[in-house]
Order: sequence, then structure tokens, then C-alpha cells
Amino acid sequence: MKFVLALVITMTLITAASHSQVTKQPFGKTPDGTAVDLYVLKNSALEAHIMTYGGIVVSLKAADRHGKQDDVVLGFDSLDLYLASSPYFGALIGRYGNRIAKGSFKLDGKTYSVPKNDGENSLHGGTKGFDKVVWAGKAIPNGLELTYVSKDGEMGYPGTLIATVRYTLEGHDLRIEYTATTDKDTVLNLTNHSYFNLAGSGDILNHQVKIKASHYTPVDAGLIPTGELATVEATPFDFRKATAIGARIDTDNEQLRRGKGYDHNWVLDTGGKFEQVAEVYEPTTGRVLQVLTSEPGLQFYSGNFLDGTLKGKKGGIYARRSGLCLETQHFPDSPNHPNFPSTELKPGTRYHTTTWYRFAAR
Ligand code: GLA
Repeated sequence: MKFVLALVITMTLITAASHSQVTKQPFGKTPDGTAVDLYVLKNSALEAHIMTYGGIVVSLKAADRHGKQDDVVLGFDSLDLYLASSPYFGALIGRYGNRIAKGSFKLDGKTYSVPKNDGENSLHGGTKGFDKVVWAGKAIPNGLELTYVSKDGEMGYPGTLIATVRYTLEGHDLRIEYTATTDKDTVLNLTNHSYFNLAGSGDILNHQVKIKASHYTPVDAGLIPTGELATVEATPFDFRKATAIGARIDTDNEQLRRGKGYDHNWVLDTGGKFEQVAEVYEPTTGRVLQVLTSEPGLQFYSGNFLDGTLKGKKGGIYARRSGLCLETQHFPDSPNHPNFPSTELKPGTRYHTTTWYRFAAR
């Protein structure tokens, strides 16, 4: 009897956690007058606020080991602050996550030019990437679906691309499912650029990180991969065992100097199988973030370019290394590296990739 009762209670909790309420409210307008909506997703474990501008995760609340919820992502209180200047806080990134060397790549024998918005290189889709457009939103069970039609030639990329991103809360997960189709051969590498701080504030140097990767892609001075898949063995890039970010970040290492800390792509050992690829643990609150994906790479960026000038939510100052990004992706500059997994998308095929950010506390 007791067992049955316990089972019923457990089942009810699971059902309660797996059902999410979805509501929508206005969040302002872009300079050209386009209305932006904010979707609020809430279940018994998590609360996510996501807006249609850039598909940006504005806030994400998760519980610590005492059940106390706090916002664990960096961002701003108003749309205007996102419009003014944002280092991709919480945003969807496209068409190409991370860099394309010298803003140029070849596809089917033709050379394409994309905007150089990071020195001589192109970063995160160019000057007006998917982080700076208003997506069409609609509520779906447990979340929202965002759609953006990117015109043939937009930011230099070929093909009309129809991209759909579904954000849902399922139990303790924020799930992101990306799909896209094109009408011409093109390249595509979508991701999400949330900056996490599992303590809710302060720097992220005591966060412990674990990444399932025996190799990473070293970079040149402009943060473009050299093409080598280097072993992490005996380097500060070995996160196969959980290690505090601050433990080795300032060691004398050419790669860390180039990234001003961690800003590199890890070559996941999962070989494209959907599974857990990373875990972050914050010891003072006990919050845990696990990342599950089928992508071959993970960009771990330790917020090195944050410099305290941005006024964050609730008046918070975002100092250097006060947030960390775990961007599931194909490798940076893949169109210029035939030895990297291909980012080509052809008409008649469907781009489909999933990432889950899973929260726990211990
Ligand atoms: C990515 C890049 C970084 C930096 C941030 C945004 O993570 O790899 O170099 O550009 O985005 O500031």
C-alpha cells in the first residue's frame, strides 16, 4: 500500500514537472516598429523567459540544493539594452556559429563573401545574424516555436533558408531543437549563446567543468582553427575530469593567451551520437548544468571579453569571466577545413539537431 502511494505521489510529481505553462507578453519594439514578444515558460523545476528578437533566452531560473530558484543566465532587463549592444547574451546564432576566416569560403567551386565583423574574420553570422532578427513565434506544448526565413544571399550566404527553433521545458531540461531547409546548397551551423552563471552572480572561476573530449581545435591569433585536432592530454584543455575553470586558466599557455582564457572548440568523443557531453557544477549553490547534444563540437567560452561596462539585469555589473558559454556546434570555420565534419546543407535534406540544457542540484 505504502509502495503504491509512494508511486502515485512520484508519478504526480513527474507529471507536474513535465507539464509547462506557456504565456506571452509584449516586450517592446525594434527601431523599425516590429513588435517583440516575450514567452514565459514555467514548470515546477524551471522558468524560462524567451523573446522573439534573436530568440534570446532573457532569463532562466533553476533551483539550488535548498530549492531556492535564481536566474542563471546573463542578460538585460529591457529590449532596448539588447538592441544597444549585447555580446550575444542568450541568443540564437546563425547562419554560422563562430568564425569564418577572412569572411570567405568556397562552395561548389564558387567563392562566397560574408561580413567581416571580427577583425578580418566573420563572427556568428555577420553584422546582422540570427541574433538580431525578429523571429515569428507561436506557443507549442511546453514551449515555443520560432521561425525565421533568411533570404537567398542574406549576409552573403546562399539559398533561402527556413529555420525553425523549438524551445521547450521538459522536466529539468531546457530543450532546443533546430531544423532548417534550403533551396540552394549552403552551409549552416546554428547554436545558442547563453552565458551561464550557476551561482547567479560573481565570476565563474570556481565552477567545475567536465567535457567529454580528448581533442580540441587549437586556434591562430585571430581565433581561427589551425586545422589540427590536438590532444588535451597534459594541457589546461583536459576537462575529462571535473576541474575548476580558474585552476589553469591563467597558466602560461599560448592557446590560453590567444583566447584570453578559454574560447575554444572541443572535439567531442561522442562521434555525433546524442548524449551528455558536458557538466558544470557550482559548489556554493550545488547547481549542476548538463549539456546533451548530437553535435560534434562544443565551444567553451569563459566570458573573457566581458569587461564590466555592461549593465546587466537588476543593475548587475558583468565583470570579466562572470558567465560561461557552452555552445554546441560544428567546428568553427568548417567550410574552409575539408577535414572537419561538413556543415553543408543541400536542398531536399533537412538540418536537424538537438541540444538539452539539463539542471540539477547536489
Ligand atoms: C564566441 C566567440 C568568442 C566571442 C564570443 C562573443 O564564443 O568564440 O570569441 O566572440 O562569442 O563575445
